[in-house]
Amino acid sequence: LELTPFVDPLPLPRAARPVTPPVTHPASNHGAHFRIGMKVIHTKVHRDVPATRMWVYHDLANPSATDTAVAPLIEARSHKPVQVEWVNNLPTQHFLPIDHSLHGCGKDVPDVRAIVHVHGARVPSDDDGHPDDWFVPTQSLTCNYPLQQDATALWYHDHAMGLNRLNVYAGMFGMMLVRDETEDALHLPTGKYELPLVLYDRNFYADGQLYYPDSGDPDHPWVSEFAGDAILINGKIRPYLEVEPALYRLRLVNAANSRFFRLSMSNKQPLVQIGSDQGLLSAPVELPAITFAPGERLDILLDLTYSAGQNLHLRHGAFDILQLRVAKATSQKAQPLPKSLRTITRIPESNSILTRTITLNEYQDKVGNSMEMLLNRKRWHEPVTEKPRLNSTEIWEFINMTEDVHPMHLHLVRFQVLDRRVYDTFAYLMHKELKFVSAAEAPAANEQGWKDVVQCPPGMVTRIIVKFEGFTGNYLYHCHILEHEANDMMRPFEVVA
Ligand code: C2O
Ligand code: CU
Repeated sequence: LELTPFVDPLPLPRAARPVTPPVTHPASNHGAHFRIGMKVIHTKVHRDVPATRMWVYHDLANPSATDTAVAPLIEARSHKPVQVEWVNNLPTQHFLPIDHSLHGCGKDVPDVRAIVHVHGARVPSDDDGHPDDWFVPTQSLTCNYPLQQDATALWYHDHAMGLNRLNVYAGMFGMMLVRDETEDALHLPTGKYELPLVLYDRNFYADGQLYYPDSGDPDHPWVSEFAGDAILINGKIRPYLEVEPALYRLRLVNAANSRFFRLSMSNKQPLVQIGSDQGLLSAPVELPAITFAPGERLDILLDLTYSAGQNLHLRHGAFDILQLRVAKATSQKAQPLPKSLRTITRIPESNSILTRTITLNEYQDKVGNSMEMLLNRKRWHEPVTEKPRLNSTEIWEFINMTEDVHPMHLHLVRFQVLDRRVYDTFAYLMHKELKFVSAAEAPAANEQGWKDVVQCPPGMVTRIIVKFEGFTGNYLYHCHILEHEANDMMRPFEVVA
């Protein structure tokens, strides 16, 4: 059915309230403590759709907050640790099709399990939200985030083994904004001029409930990808927002299970990208459109000063997903766009002590249905093969042998994209011989900052360079297409002393 667009106002997240004084853990001494719960709610995704059951994060320190699909926004500062008690108040039965044949998702474990990973945070291994560290309804887990890292938009989401594609689909994700002095000095738009926007897609039954497909095989309901007809922003289908003819800062997260967004403006004005996953770029980059993969973040300046009195739209492809109703006047003082943002030193390749080769593989059945996806032809539970040394720098090259783009993500670290290059897939398949058939392509200007997700196109070798800073211990890397990650495009790595 066609829903009338732009009838619901865009909801914006409320800042989570710190609980004072901080409790128990010594690392919380100087940081704020938050209590964030997980619960079931029924909420409207659109004026004409009956309320939808969702599982969401909510602020236990703010009992007056009404139920919303928009998770509390954790506001933080670089080098000021944050402590969060995550409280699982979910029901004990799941409402989406669990695949008990997936690793770690058997009948021997409870159906409802949750663990929170703060994506992009540099944290000790015990606080990282490891997929096996799940806990069940009525339990809670307190995690510490030292935030010894640059300002950026982090996001938190469920990571429970074999379940997170369903838990995230049910609604379990939110944002954490980290600020620092470099960012302060730029005087970027703040307050009502800064808009946290979480994008994702969903399908619904006529009664408004979430529909997630299954394969038709009751023993193995897993599907290899999900594409929903409805695009949601902050929990609403095609919402509108009243804005001013002013400069806006959009903080975007792609929280979709599998969908890539192709973002642009209806009036063809360029998007001015100022930051990516791990913070500000060295200088703003003007782009007519941006391709945005699951797990990635975008920091964008949108200048609406010339659009007084107009309705503009943010687009995905040719489809308007958000209406901006620009008022006639603003109280914002005119601000020139910054020319430069932050110093980003490119890591020289010569710093790398080791190049690791990671193949991305897909296995299909006789009729071409995906059965599983692997990294280096290994499954999650096989022994750790990547053991970088703390403070060492390595090059990782992802050889994509599949027909899809895979957004690869590493926990703990930030990295830089080195290049992409077309290789002879047949020669590699037959003789394990890496023969390049094109020149190396340097990353685009908006990919030359710090990243934690990299798009790996098919038929190409994508190289990143990464310093394993921060902590020793067990972490993981995986494709951020959540269906791929679950079966079994996810592998451990261990940072060793
Ligand atoms: Cu956002 Cu391991 O993921
Ligand atoms: Cu993938």
